[in-house]
Amino acid sequence: MLFTALRRGKIFGRASKIGAVFLSSDARSYPGRLAGKTALITGAGSGIGREAALLFAHEGACVAVVDKSVSGAAKTVDAVREFGGKCLAIAGGDVSIPSDVEKMVLETERAFGGLHILFNNAGIMDANDGDAINTPDDVIDRTLDINVKGVIYGCRYGIPAIQRSGGGSVINTASFVAFLGAATPQIAYTASKGAVLALTRELAVLHARDKVRVNSICPGPIQTELMMKVLDTEEKRNRRLVHIPMGRFGKAAEIARAALFLASDESSFVTGASLLVDGGITAAYVTPE
Ligand SMILES: NC(=O)c1ccc[n+]([C@@H]2O[C@H](COP(=O)([O-])OP(=O)(O)OC[C@H]3O[C@@H](n4cnc5c(N)ncnc54)[C@H](O)[C@@H]3O)[C@@H](O)[C@H]2O)c1
Repeated sequence: MLFTALRRGKIFGRASKIGAVFLSSDARSYPGRLAGKTALITGAGSGIGREAALLFAHEGACVAVVDKSVSGAAKTVDAVREFGGKCLAIAGGDVSIPSDVEKMVLETERAFGGLHILFNNAGIMDANDGDAINTPDDVIDRTLDINVKGVIYGCRYGIPAIQRSGGGSVINTASFVAFLGAATPQIAYTASKGAVLALTRELAVLHARDKVRVNSICPGPIQTELMMKVLDTEEKRNRRLVHIPMGRFGKAAEIARAALFLASDESSFVTGASLLVDGGITAAYVTPE
């Protein structure tokens, strides 16, 4: 069931630390790169979505925090409130259920008067996802329901809302795995992220003259709950690290900053793009020792 709680405050209170990004109280007079905009972020109760909610709110946006996890969404809202950001929690909403997604968008418009930024970021990676021979049907279905249909439903209800607000930006979270094959397979997850790239390009072309930009962000392996649950041993982590030129996993805040660029008017001529933020993985053949 959709549970909502409206939390408001004034923007730019005191200095705070957001992941790796330090935002100083000197910013008080700075209008913010997203001033006057409203953003809806799915999967904002954890990882990349939470960092994006914090950063977008710090940059002046009113943020609707959507997550299936009620406690995760509440934590994000509390963190935004702490520095006086404007935030609305839409917790318990499931992106794979169209009626939930419709409600999320309507709640956001009702609370903040419009929608300009839609970050379709919620996603799952199932521990039983493997190769084509052994992956169970329920894993394939659940992964595609959330990672692909969730994005389509977000666009189904979010794009008309953005149009009603005079235009804006849609950001869909894909992954670097849509570009590279891996001998550590997650066939359903990989297929889902390839689909996100393809549907993003189509929507970008379709809506290019409606003032709606649609882009994908493609993170490399990021230190979040989703990834670290899968990479739960030193051996598994090292198996990946050797392929990353920078020699480390990324941070959720590093993806949030790229999302901020796509969300803001600074990317006004960028649509249909697949923005890789991957520490150089997709550029690499032999990595440094
Ligand atoms: N972490 C990585 O290495 C990595 C790499 C590439 C892409 N991604 C993608 O980034 C996105 C965010 O991942 P993360 O690493 O921050 O993961 P995370 O697990 O930390 O956060 C995902 C959030 O989505 C929520 N969620 C899951 N299913 C949902 C649903 N049906 N409806 C609403 N909310 C739901 C979860 O409750 C969670 O709070 C995902 O789409 C993921 O596939 C992550």
